[in-house]
Parts: sequence; C-alpha cells; structure tokens
Amino acid sequence: MLRMLLGTSALLSLAVVVGFSPQDQEKPRREWHFSPQEDSARFARMNAEISEKIEDVKKSIVGAEDKPAAEVFKNLQMFKQLKAGQVPSIMETWSRSLGTSCQHCHVVDQWAKDDKPEKQIARDMVNMVGEINTNLLANIKNLNSKNPRIVCWTCHEGRIKPPRPPWAREFQRKD
Ligand code: HEC
Ligand code: HEC
Repeated sequence: MLRMLLGTSALLSLAVVVGFSPQDQEKPRREWHFSPQEDSARFARMNAEISEKIEDVKKSIVGAEDKPAAEVFKNLQMFKQLKAGQVPSIMETWSRSLGTSCQHCHVVDQWAKDDKPEKQIARDMVNMVGEINTNLLANIKNLNSKNPRIVCWTCHEGRIKPPRPPWAREFQRKD
C-alpha cells in the first residue's frame, strides 16, 4: 500500500514533465555512451511513432477515459487507481523523458505483456522516484523550493541512460 502511494505521488509529478531532446534510442541497451549529436531524422521518427501509438491507445479507450484504469487495462500493477485516460499521457511522458519510443519497454501493440525487462525497470524507477521525493528529498532542510521534486526527466533528460559527467573518466564502462 505504501509503495502504491509513493508510486501515485511520483506519478503526479511525472505528469507535469514536458519537453524532450534527440536521442540515440537504437543503440543496444548496454551501450553506455550517449552521443549528443543531433539526429533530426531519428528524432522526427520517434515523435511520429509516439504520437501514432498514443492516438491508437486513446482511440481504443474512447468513452472509458474516466473509468478506473484497472477496469480498462489488463496488466497494471501501479496505475490501477488512476483513470484510464491518464495512462496514455504517462506513457507519452515516459517515452519523451527517455528519448525513446514505446518499443523500448513494450512489444509494440502488445501493451499488457511483461516480456521486456525495461518495463519492470520503469516500475522500479517509479518506486525509486517516489522514495526519493517522499522520504529523502522532503527531509532535506533549507532548500529553496517548498516542495522539491524529481521526475524521470531530472536524470534522463531525453536519454535512455542518464549522462555521466564528461570529466569523470573513471566512470567509463566498456560493457
Ligand atoms: C519506460 C518504459 C515504458 C515506455 C517507454 C512505454 N511504456 Fe507503456 N507501460 C510501461 C509500464 C511499466 C506499464 C505498466 C504500468 C503498471 O504496472 O501499472 C505500461 C503499461 C502500458 C499500457 C497498459 C497495458 C495493459 O493493458 O495493462 C499501455 C496501453 C501502454 N503502456 C502503452 C504504451 C505506449 C503506446 C507507449 C509509447 C507511446 C508506451 N506504453 C511506452 C512502461 C513503458
Ligand atoms: C535519480 C535519477 C533517475 C531518475 C529520477 C530516473 N531514473 Fe531511470 N535510470 C537512472 C539510472 C542511473 C539508470 C541506469 C543506467 C545504467 O544502466 O547505467 C536508469 C535506467 C532506466 C531504465 C533502463 C534503461 C535501459 O538501459 O534500457 C529505464 C527504463 C528507466 N531508467 C526509466 C525511468 C523512468 C520511467 C523514470 C521516471 C519514473 C526514471 N527512470 C527516473 C536514473 C534515474
């Protein structure tokens, strides 16, 4: 139950994230280095794909947007208590936050399946973000903001892997 609450509070803050940047989403998952070189064709493809798939999902739930998500979708562990109409927006936000498209976490069009490890990683990330916001960041005194929050974008900034500091050579990995 606690986890559920954390997830939900993280989720509320996730929903406000907008914006994205180009990304090398086709690199293998274990590729460490992110090339910030812009690839506008790939970026455009990614955006088109996200929009198309989000439209598909929205169409498939027309009229049921205000129903509990658990009644409309088949395999929700975290978002059961949301309205169904909120799920596509979260998916869009995550895709843009990671600079990737649905296929990074799903076999496209088989949304309920749990066959990609990235899908479970995303759930674990939601719990991590909830934990940081609720139990860690909230207890740091004298911060400027009254209600400081991290979201997926805070670390990922449109990349599958958060960047390492450019000067930190010792962080470089070969795998
Ligand atoms: C970073 C990983 C990630 C990305 C990217 C992502 N999803 Fe998801 N998606 C998830 C997770 C995790 C769940 C399950 C949430 C839960 O357990 O409550 C989910 C659930 C869903 C569901 C509900 C399926 C069901 O019936 O249970 C749909 C529909 C969906 N995603 C569509 C999309 C679409 C469309 C895109 C691309 C625009 C997308 N997702 C991008 C991780 C992702
Ligand atoms: C505090 C920083 C931070 C935040 C916030 C964060 N992540 Fe992550 N994320 C990471 C790190 C670090 C990794 C591991 C990268 C690696 O493999 O070295 C990671 C990896 C991932 C991966 C696996 C990427 C791959 O290799 O395929 C997914 C999926 C992911 N995060 C989704 C999310 C989602 C969704 C959110 C928001 C709910 C989120 N993350 C928020 C730091 C963060």
